[in-house]
Amino acid sequence: MLNIDNTNIDYENPVEIAEGIYWVGFYDVKSGLHCNPYLIIDNEEALVIDGGSRPDFAIVMMKILQTGIEPHQINALLYQHYDPDLCGSIPNFEDIIERSSLKIISDESSLEFIRHYSVSSQMISIEDVDYHYKFSSGRTLEFINTPYSHSSGSFVTFDQKSGILFTSDIFGSYGTEWELFFKLRPQCVDCVNLNKCPENRDHCPINDVLNFHRIIMTSRKALKYSLKKILEIPFTALAPQHGSIITDRNVMRYIFEQLISQKDIGIDRIVEDEKDLDFSNLRERLSTDEN
Ligand SMILES: [Fe+2]
Ligand SMILES: [Fe+2]
Repeated sequence: MLNIDNTNIDYENPVEIAEGIYWVGFYDVKSGLHCNPYLIIDNEEALVIDGGSRPDFAIVMMKILQTGIEPHQINALLYQHYDPDLCGSIPNFEDIIERSSLKIISDESSLEFIRHYSVSSQMISIEDVDYHYKFSSGRTLEFINTPYSHSSGSFVTFDQKSGILFTSDIFGSYGTEWELFFKLRPQCVDCVNLNKCPENRDHCPINDVLNFHRIIMTSRKALKYSLKKILEIPFTALAPQHGSIITDRNVMRYIFEQLISQKDIGIDRIVEDEKDLDFSNLRERLSTDEN
């Protein structure tokens, strides 16, 4: 079902990655951080996942319209956390969709922040809909919390019909050599020398993924917890909000193994062990003794 060949993709148009599921992003050749908004069309209804930033809106909306749907057919905007690279264009979506029944769906704690972008939509928390979104046809999206990877209310979304797991920032990547589908040369799978490429290549897509997680994720513990939960989901493809869609099982396995073995994720890059945080001078520092 997935179009896993990068060679014939026309990035000026929406890319159908599975039946009724489109990548509607902006292929910005200068950017080192590509954003991947997705559109799901189910009969007459549509839902946008992680719609994108304000500067990208014109291109994202043009691609949505190129699929043949009308703006009023968009029932819901789904945001897997509240960052501006996902949510910046909420006011633009509200203006063009122009319906009071438009739903913004996210985790309860993210909606606290998302409401600062929105003026007219109904806010629906994934908790209130029992972690499911149902289209009229019965097609169901399932939501799974991935707390602190990287936001308190982060979650991932599983489309049961296609098997695609939309992972937001998890499995994201930095890198200027971007392609929609993640490709790794066979000799690079299970590479044991990520510090010095055995083939002397300048660019390593695995290091791009690892660097992204080191900087964006909050901690080793949070990331491992999320990866453990993700492994329980029967996904067949991983579709992140940055970087490339991963469809190859060997590549998935290798990336999982690399991510769970990373020591320096988020705060762990800064503080190795809690015992390094010495508070023995606390009472002296905050003493009320005038002398
Ligand atoms: Fe983010
Ligand atoms: Fe992001």
